[in-house]
Formats: sequence, structure tokens, C-alpha cells
Amino acid sequence: MAAAKTIHVCSACGHETPRWVGQCPGCGEWNTLVEELRARPTAVGGVRAQRAAGAVKPVVLGSVSAQEHARLSTGIGELDNVLGGGLVPGSLVLIGGSPGVGKSTLTTMALANLVAAGRSTLYVSAEESAAQIRLRAERLRGGDALAIPVIAETDLHTVLATLESERPEVCVIDSVQTLNCSDLTSAAGSVAQVREVASEIMRVAKTNRIAVLLVGHVTKDGALAGPRALEHLVDCVLQFEGERERTYRTVRAIKNRFGSTNEAGVFEMRDDGLVEVLDASARFVAEATRAPGSVVLAAMEGTRPLLVEVQALVSPSELEMPRRVVAGIDRNRLALVLAVLGRHAGIGLGASDVFVNVVGGVRIDEPGADLAVALAVASAAKGTALASAQGNPLACFGELGLTGELRSVGHAERRLAEAAKFGLEPVLEPGRCRTLREAVQQALGRERPALARA
Ligand code: TYD
Ligand code: MG
Repeated sequence: MAAAKTIHVCSACGHETPRWVGQCPGCGEWNTLVEELRARPTAVGGVRAQRAAGAVKPVVLGSVSAQEHARLSTGIGELDNVLGGGLVPGSLVLIGGSPGVGKSTLTTMALANLVAAGRSTLYVSAEESAAQIRLRAERLRGGDALAIPVIAETDLHTVLATLESERPEVCVIDSVQTLNCSDLTSAAGSVAQVREVASEIMRVAKTNRIAVLLVGHVTKDGALAGPRALEHLVDCVLQFEGERERTYRTVRAIKNRFGSTNEAGVFEMRDDGLVEVLDASARFVAEATRAPGSVVLAAMEGTRPLLVEVQALVSPSELEMPRRVVAGIDRNRLALVLAVLGRHAGIGLGASDVFVNVVGGVRIDEPGADLAVALAVASAAKGTALASAQGNPLACFGELGLTGELRSVGHAERRLAEAAKFGLEPVLEPGRCRTLREAVQQALGRERPALARA
């Protein structure tokens, strides 16, 4: 009787019911009931039990030994870097990304390198058959992918038992949404299942010092759907971004208990696996179109500067609500930029469709992108190309304030140095123009020749 082992708890008010209902009888909220195992002690019960067990002696922090954990290198420099120097034994790393971005490829490559370095590994696939994993492994260059031990299994208890008997140093679980705990009646991938799967795997991983790479699917709008519930549980959350059809992908840490969250890595998906792109700026600058609507953004990917092309297209709209379509930037940021362009730079686009795209599938998540979006849109609207000296693409960065001022952003020196490396000078940035109007005039207006000469 599986049903009797579980209860449904309201995530808003904590009300418990034996079976699932759409509306919580306790607080009236909809869709807040989440299935939980009855056997597990509640938080309050847990505290009581501890009290009954007697007090413990607190230790002074200075007397705690905090040795730097010996890290396991994945053999993928960009990944090690994002992790803060490799995998920490016994840690749980969640890798989120949309289907097809390359999560299975990246984790397989990491295990292949670890195997080649003599580490014990295990690949648990709850999604693909062993034959499918083999086909992928055959494509991969480097490492020893065909020597990775795999199991194709969806049952959580079987996986836990296998982990306890095999005790690999590093294990991949692909994916957290497709493993299934048979004690719960909810479907695999539901919040209840995902939480149970992750906490059980964590328990086994910590006791056996297994470093776990937990793969999680992310919905189209970028939210770690089920896995969001896991972010507080795991040690490290990596976001793998980029689109299936595009070549470039970025990996960034959004939480890291053992390192900074400032690191990001750029990869390219090739026929024989993911390749680290160490000269991403050079490629994006070389590929920049220099056409109307194109500008180069001197962005920061973590602590590294990266030059990327931002493109815009503006066309008369036939819709009552004109289209605002973005790829690689936040949609709300575009709305803000368009409002400031209209109000403070005299470029109103209320009757136009506006499309903005960061080339190569890169995602830029920083306010420093505002000026690039504004200049790309302004250039597209006027049909005039932005080019600086020697016909090079124009580079820029800066945040827009609501009163039309340009605001400075972090790492200006490094952004300027990166642009200079590729001959993109001068750069339009807050140190050079005080307002968006000034920047638009310098880039597109009568003062443009002066910019070219500067
Ligand atoms: P995959 O790692 O299966 O994505 P995920 O696990 O995130 O869903 O791979 C995604 C895509 O990459 C897939 O469509 C095939 C392609 N691919 C390559 O282009 N080159 C390769 O070497 C491999 C292994 C996959
Ligand atoms: Mg996969």
C-alpha cells in the first residue's frame, strides 16, 4: 500500500492531508500540496529528538580544522574553473540546462577524463539505454569514455544500493527528474520526487564521500523547474546555457559553497564533443557583421571580459501590441532600454517590432549590456551602421539609468583592455559619454567623424 506511506503537505501553510487535493483545506492556496514520506520525522520532531539525546559542546571556530579539500580535476579546464578548482569529494553539484544543451555530453566527458586519470566513476542514466550512452561515448575525443562503468536504471533504491556497493569517487546521475522513488505516488519529476531523490542521493554521497554530478532539466524560460527546490540542498549549482541549434554554450556557477559564483566558461559543441573556447572574443569580433543594427558589447563573463556581438532588427509592426523578441538578454531589460530610448534620446519605437539577439547563443545577464542594446536598436531604427576607426565594429558597455544617464559598471578597465586587444577603440562607455543621448549622437549623429578620429 504505497499510498498509506505518504502524506501531502501544503508548502504554504504546512497543513497535512492524507490525499492530494487541488486547494489546500488549511489556507485555501491552490496547487501547494506536495507529497512527502510519512516515515520521515518533521523538522520539529527532529529537533525534539535531538534535545532528548542531550546537549552537545559547542566548539570555537578557530579550533575547527578547515583544510582545503583535495579537489578532483574533471580534465575540463573551464569546468574545473567554474567549480572553483575541481570537484570536492562528497559534494553534490547540480548541473541545470535545457534539453539538448549538452549536459550528458559534458558529464560523460568529465567522467572519461577522470577514468583516464585512474579515478573510479559511475554513470547512472535514468534517461537513455546503455547502448545510447555508448553511441555518445564513441563520438567523444579525449579521455577514456568507453571505460566508464554505467547503469541504466530509474529506480532510486537500486541506484542507492549500487552507489553503496560500488562507492565510486565520482558519480553522474542523469537526470534527477527521471529517477523514481517507488515509495511516493507522485510521478517522476514532480517536486516531491525530485526532493526525495536528491536528498537520498546526498545522504549516500556524503557518507561514502562520492562527488555527485546531478543533472537537472530546465524549462524553456530558464527556471530550474523541479530542481529549483534543490538549490538550497546541493553544494553547487551550475547553469548550462545556450541553445540546441547554436554552437556556443556557457557554463556558470549560480551557487558554490566551495568557490566563487563569478566564474563562467564558454564551450563550443562540435561533432566530437564539447570544446573549450578560450579565444571567444576573437571569434565573436571576427564574425561581427558591422551592418546596421550590430554593435559589439564588452561584457564580463564572470571575472573574464568577453566581446560579443549584439544585433537588433526594427520593423514597422502590424500588431496592436508590437513584438519584443529577445535571445540572450532579459526581456524586461529591453523594455527599459526602449522606454529610455524613446523618452531621452528621441527614438520612439511604440509602433515597431523590435528583435534583439546576442550572437552565438551567449546569454548576457548584466546591466552593462544596456548601452549595447540601445545602440543596436538605435542603429537598426536609423538604418545606419555603427563603425569606429578603420571600419572596425563599434564596442560599448554601460548601464542605463531611468533618467537617460549612463551609469558605470564593474571592471571597466578590463573591458577596455579586452576591446583594445582587438583594436576596437575608442569604446563608447560611461567614462566617455554621460548620457544615452550623447552616446547615440557620437555613434550615429553628426559627431561621428570625431569618434572615428579619436
Ligand atoms: P546531450 O549531451 O545529449 O544534451 P542533454 O543531455 O543536455 O540533453 O547532447 C545535445 C546535442 O549535442 C545532441 O543533439 C547531439 C549533439 N552532439 C554533438 O553535436 N556533438 C557531440 O559530440 C555529441 C556527443 C552530441
Ligand atoms: Mg541528456
